[in-house]
Amino acid sequence: MKHPITYILAILLMFAFYSSAVVAASYEGRQKCSSCHKAQGKSWRSTAHAKAMDSLKAGEREEAKVKAGLDPKKDYTKDKDCVGCHVDGYGEKGGYTIDRPRRQLAAVGCESCHGPGRKYRGEHRKGGQAFERNGTTTERSRLVSRGQDYEFEEACKACHLNYEGSGWAGNKPPYTPFTPEVDAKYTFKFDDMVRDAGAMHEHFKLDGAFVGEPEFKFHKEFQASAAVDEEKGSGDDDDDDDD
Ligand code: HEC
Ligand code: HEC
Ligand code: HEC
Ligand code: HEC
Repeated sequence: MKHPITYILAILLMFAFYSSAVVAASYEGRQKCSSCHKAQGKSWRSTAHAKAMDSLKAGEREEAKVKAGLDPKKDYTKDKDCVGCHVDGYGEKGGYTIDRPRRQLAAVGCESCHGPGRKYRGEHRKGGQAFERNGTTTERSRLVSRGQDYEFEEACKACHLNYEGSGWAGNKPPYTPFTPEVDAKYTFKFDDMVRDAGAMHEHFKLDGAFVGEPEFKFHKEFQASAAVDEEKGSGDDDDDDDD
């Protein structure tokens, strides 16, 4: 070995390359999630997040647009300064693109909050089957290692607090035009807004196939008041696509 340091660096670089390659999960669209989680899918469809793409159309939300200094007659649905926060995974692997827009990624869908689903959804099927068969539970940390996101507050902030002076450290353009300076109602308050039935899907009782940390801070509260999903089925997890 001529230069042990070079070898160490090479190994570290390889490690960094492979670990990032493993972590970079891909977006797929909400039809996968909704095929198993029908109740959440149905509930989500009536939320403000599900209609986020409509708001970018000409003639929609005219009053709000004028107040924010936008042109109410303009179509913003193909504007790269807008779509990023109104769709799933813009600029990310498998995410929404302006050139080849996929309906199943348009609007703020499942993967915007729960993370890109390509790798963890298979774990849901397996974990659900193991639980059904013999009560075996699966650690949530396994889902996290496959790209599932439990940092809900960070996910929200990336859209809701992405403007200059928001206090959110990650902010970078394009910024949201709808800031508290435009109207105080655009102030983001996580603890209230994550309970807002107008924007969040309803919660349904889980069997408890997944356990352990990270457990979302309101998980027990949400489950305690959750509805029972009457139609819960095994769903299908094949690769069909209704786009
Ligand atoms: C093949 C069916 C299937 C697919 C596809 C699927 N899931 Fe699941 N999911 C399950 C099962 C089964 C559970 C465990 C339910 C239980 O404990 O009652 C689960 C649990 C969950 C949970 C709760 C996890 C926890 O911490 O307890 C969330 C959130 C979730 N799924 C979201 C999603 C999202 C988002 C997608 C799409 C990217 C998705 N699921 C795709 C079957 C599926
Ligand atoms: C990908 C970007 C994005 C993410 C992530 C996101 N939101 Fe939103 N949110 C939006 C957009 C865009 C709207 C406006 C939808 C519309 O009316 O067109 C919105 C609307 C809302 C509203 C309704 C506001 C009102 O005026 O009534 C609430 C409440 C809300 N979001 C809460 C949350 C919470 C809580 C989270 C995280 C758990 C979250 N959002 C994650 C983009 C996002
Ligand atoms: C950094 C993320 C982000 C970008 C970029 C963004 N938006 Fe939004 N947009 C949001 C969020 C978050 C909300 C919800 C705000 C709320 O109600 O608290 C929203 C809400 C809206 C609404 C509904 C406002 C209302 O009160 O009804 C319209 C219309 C809208 N955006 C249009 C646009 C247009 C047009 C652009 C581009 C010029 C744009 N957005 C760029 C995040 C963004
Ligand atoms: C704006 C953010 C957001 C979006 C969009 C979203 N979820 Fe959730 N979801 C949450 C939060 C927050 C929880 C509560 C997590 C907990 O209790 O551990 C949750 C919980 C769940 C659960 C656990 C059981 C329950 O009902 O609480 C499932 C399953 C789930 N979501 C599926 C979906 C599916 C499917 C979609 C898309 C159709 C979706 N989610 C869209 C934020 C979101």
